[in-house]
Amino acid sequence: MPDLRGSTVTWLGHATVLIQTPAGTTALIDPFIEQSPTYPKGFQLPKTIDLLLITHGHFDHIADAVPIARKYKPKVIGVAELTGFLASKGVENTQGMNYGGTFRHADLTITMVEAKHSSGIQDGDKIIYGGNPAGFVIGIGNGPTLYHAGDTSLFSDMKLIAELYAPEFGMLPIGDNYTMGPKAASIAAKYLLLKTVLPIHFGTFPGLTGTPAELSTYLEDSSIEVLYLNPGDSL
Ligand code: NI
Ligand code: MN
Repeated sequence: MPDLRGSTVTWLGHATVLIQTPAGTTALIDPFIEQSPTYPKGFQLPKTIDLLLITHGHFDHIADAVPIARKYKPKVIGVAELTGFLASKGVENTQGMNYGGTFRHADLTITMVEAKHSSGIQDGDKIIYGGNPAGFVIGIGNGPTLYHAGDTSLFSDMKLIAELYAPEFGMLPIGDNYTMGPKAASIAAKYLLLKTVLPIHFGTFPGLTGTPAELSTYLEDSSIEVLYLNPGDSL
């Protein structure tokens, strides 16, 4: 099991992840709740959510952003076009960012990094330009540094993410079809020099066929740990 130095990471199915730090700071990433087939029904979110991080504008990452923002009043962080869209829907406290930038809040350091994907936002029967899709490097006060890749293919500049930020815990999509699959994710984990991988974005929909077991097979020759969690499980 990874050493999270007192922080808690909870996987809520698909790409939805809750992070709670020892100082009591709470961040929720990519809220896909009401219509997610794999969200743990009845899961109690904490009373406060300080930061809401959105990697890109696709439905399965943004679906519950507006209701969560209304209820918890977090700082909502995403690429500038995406936070602009959310502001147009009444979200008040937004923090637009872009690649390479860092935003600090309490004991969290949030850096927006590249993702190779798309980011159109479905708004009724229209698709709105959502800016570039992103990943987040999340530094926690006394460590560790986490990386949520968002939806992405493998790209060799993940080596730069390792060089600049040295994340040890990576949340990587493995489902295939819309993102990289297990083989590419295993190379990503090696490029990133991760100690631990939490596989995300698999099994939610029929096309997302990659499995943590396949990822493990591709990482057999390394010391990188692959986590097997069920939605709702905490570390
Ligand atoms: Ni997507
Ligand atoms: Mn997705």
